[in-house]
Amino acid sequence: MANFHLNSQPYIEQLSYNQATDMILEIGSDQNEGSTEFFNGLSVNWEIPFYTVDVIIEPQHRFTHLDHIIWQVETGSVWTKKVLPTLNKQIKVLYLDNYDWANPGPNADTIRTSYAFRNVDWSNMGSQVEHLAQMINCVPYMADQSLVICDDTPLVAGSETYTGKCGAVVPYLLCNGYKIVYTGNNGVILARGL
Ligand SMILES: C[S@@+](CC[C@H](N)C(=O)[O-])C[C@H]1O[C@@H](n2cnc3c(N)ncnc32)[C@H](O)[C@@H]1O
Repeated sequence: MANFHLNSQPYIEQLSYNQATDMILEIGSDQNEGSTEFFNGLSVNWEIPFYTVDVIIEPQHRFTHLDHIIWQVETGSVWTKKVLPTLNKQIKVLYLDNYDWANPGPNADTIRTSYAFRNVDWSNMGSQVEHLAQMINCVPYMADQSLVICDDTPLVAGSETYTGKCGAVVPYLLCNGYKIVYTGNNGVILARGL
């Protein structure tokens, strides 16, 4: 669902932030859904750093006018393990929208081909493993009061569980003090300390 990040606005407005310690992190940079520009605006207003991580450099070339963004070209699980611990910051807002999820069909073949180009054997299970690895690496650096926004993570009707990119992230966050504050539009938002 395009623009899922916009559903986080009411919860973002309830956060209190610390300019000295906080940062915003997006994993999965702009692909014309607008999230990178949205979180950049928030970080400019709050005067805190905004890191956006992606395996490709192309989004960076389309946003040269936004000079507040800290672009990082790396696999999300690698960056969160190797770089995040060196920043000495706490994540106030985390947007997870990267390793693609697809239902069977022609679209899946296109995705598989583009991932194979990077030597990644694309699969939906791979998407869940990658997003969960990112979240495991981020949890020690999440602010006590913080928001995790998960796109492409729908509720499975009648099961009270989630599938999609962050299907494994949701129970992991519930184990770490987060509560589900929003479900809909093909995604889920969790908050702690609100
Ligand atoms: C759905 S798009 C992100 C859309 C974006 N949030 C927006 O609002 O336009 C997914 C992005 O994840 C990136 N990606 C795929 N696998 C990744 C990984 N393991 N780590 C980081 N980024 C990844 C892709 O290159 C792509 O740019």
